Amino acid sequence: NDRENCSRGALIVVEGLDRSGKTSQSCKLLSYLDGQGYSVESWRFPDRSTCVGEMISSYLTNKSQLDDRTIHLLFSANRWEKRSLMESKLKKGITLIVDRYSYSGVAFSSAKGLDIEWCKAPEIGLLAPDLVLYLDIPSEKAAERGGYGGERYEQLEFQKEVAKRYQILQDTSWKIIDACLPIEDVEKQMKELVVDSIVTCQKGKPLSQLW
Ligand code: TMP
Repeated sequence: NDRENCSRGALIVVEGLDRSGKTSQSCKLLSYLDGQGYSVESWRFPDRSTCVGEMISSYLTNKSQLDDRTIHLLFSANRWEKRSLMESKLKKGITLIVDRYSYSGVAFSSAKGLDIEWCKAPEIGLLAPDLVLYLDIPSEKAAERGGYGGERYEQLEFQKEVAKRYQILQDTSWKIIDACLPIEDVEKQMKELVVDSIVTCQKGKPLSQLW
């Protein structure tokens, strides 16, 4: 069947502050879609399994120090090294649920004071998400959830700055989800939005690029 042969998967990105529930909601989404018979994979950035990812991980756990621009470019390189695999999976019809992407890259680095346009530049040409699910939570609430594990960016004041940068980055691919709602409600909203997006992509929506 022609439609099936040429239909692509959707690139779904989940964004939000640390402790907004991204990771557990991404897991739920994956098992739901899987159970419905969709071809789907769950990804995350940083991908700490690569060499670049190991450098990032060591920075985040305060085992190494890096200049702000250097770590920014490593986060970006970590997405670039996965770009062609990402494209081939999508073209095979696999939907990707990605926990953090370029928006995290720009929001976190620009929250340190780097120029936002400078931060966006290395992301140009990466695949643009079909849908960004932003789990919206006040920084104080996120901090109350506990489990700030002591990684570099897990501090209230910094997260507040990150939240401001996320606001600037919102575009038409974004859907804002109130992450303070009961878990099941968040889950339900996400499922509906994702299924819609998958259908749109199956109907032939072209892949596009940032930014
Ligand atoms: P994680 O907790 O989702 O593994 O992300 C680790 C931290 O890295 C988190 O505080 C957000 C930050 N981050 C960036 O600063 N730039 C990026 O490009 C990405 C993907 C994450």
